Amino acid sequence: MKTIPQDIARVLISTDDLQRRVQELADQISADYQDQNPLLVCVLKGGYVFLADLTRAMSINHAVDFMAISSYGSGAVSSGVVRILKDLDRDISGRHVLLVEDIIDTGHTIAYILDNLRTRQPASLRVCTLLSKPSRREIPLPVDYIGFEIPNEFVIGYGLDYAERYRNLSYIGVLKPEVYS
Ligand code: PRP
Repeated sequence: MKTIPQDIARVLISTDDLQRRVQELADQISADYQDQNPLLVCVLKGGYVFLADLTRAMSINHAVDFMAISSYGSGAVSSGVVRILKDLDRDISGRHVLLVEDIIDTGHTIAYILDNLRTRQPASLRVCTLLSKPSRREIPLPVDYIGFEIPNEFVIGYGLDYAERYRNLSYIGVLKPEVYS
């Protein structure tokens, strides 16, 4: 059993609860996209752990691709500034595309990516996020698959970082405020 780093105030979502919910999402996505060979687009970096578990829990054929977006810098508050650091490898016209995110906070990142990908004429375009902070939303967004709605706390682990640390934790934890303030 690994010890919890001292910067973590408490565990918000346990490893078991995460794994259970990821399997539920994978089952639902597998049912919804039966015979459609969807393309799962992971938004780096935070989405990589969720994508790795989600894709292995799915029971249908699918492909994966990656985008890297810059929005926050290394701080804790969204600037709303978004730019593409790495684009998709392939054309998505006619493909069923599912965007996979670790967290939707203000919504600026996903809104930007949706606008951008829509111009490439995919057959369908939906969003799957592990975490959502509805109280922080600045842009109203339809989100098709949500793992957990969470309160406005600074969460890390399972792909989410603070200053590039803690992405490797198998659970979602709340960071102590004195670490980032
Ligand atoms: C996080 C997260 C989303 C975005 C959500 O990425 O992965 O992409 O912020 O915030 P928003 O809804 O307010 O736009 P971050 O910029 O921390 O980069 P990272 O994924 O590389 O850690």
